[in-house]
Amino acid sequence: MSGSALTIRPLTDGEEEAVIALWHACGLTRPWNDPATDLAFARGRPNSDVLVGLAGDRVVASAMVGHDGHRGTMYYVSVVPAERGRGYGRQIVAAAEAWLKARGVWKANLLVRKGNEAVLGFYDELGYEAGSAQQIEKWLDPQKRADKSR
Ligand SMILES: CC(C)(COP(=O)(O)OP(=O)(O)OC[C@H]1O[C@@H](n2cnc3c(N)ncnc32)[C@H](O)[C@@H]1OP(=O)(O)O)[C@@H](O)C(=O)NCCC(=O)NCCS
Repeated sequence: MSGSALTIRPLTDGEEEAVIALWHACGLTRPWNDPATDLAFARGRPNSDVLVGLAGDRVVASAMVGHDGHRGTMYYVSVVPAERGRGYGRQIVAAAEAWLKARGVWKANLLVRKGNEAVLGFYDELGYEAGSAQQIEKWLDPQKRADKSR
């Protein structure tokens, strides 16, 4: 089903709670990631932002987007559960891609959590494919890792 066009723009003051509620509703939050801290850290920076998609005056979609001076990425790609399948996910990802392209970034890398493989079909529709690089990681704050293991 095709929905109407969203109004997509950077999050503004007063929308934080709606966006965090959306992330909770989409199952994207984790105990070791405080969403308010994540949101405040990313929004409105030269190299990162939090985009919201509005249907009328309701926040129905969001994506955190950013780049590290080389590649781009997205986090918290989300559409309110009751309004999925209307093209809102496609629109919010396209807006995040446009945000990156406007800053000279020509490739986006995405992380999909184990257990969320069902979403790969969505990204496949949008032209994303499995990469050849292996993701590795190191926790720079050991406390955060301990929090995750608890
Ligand atoms: C993933 C998500 C953002 C998709 O939002 P959505 O609004 O339903 O997506 P769209 O309606 O724009 O779908 C775009 C296309 O992908 C397809 N699609 C959507 N979800 C799909 C899935 N799980 N598997 C296969 N295809 C899928 C749609 O059918 C549509 O194809 P079409 O244009 O040919 O009809 C939404 O399901 C969501 O918020 N999920 C929970 C949060 C999440 O896992 N985010 C990703 C973290 S990496």
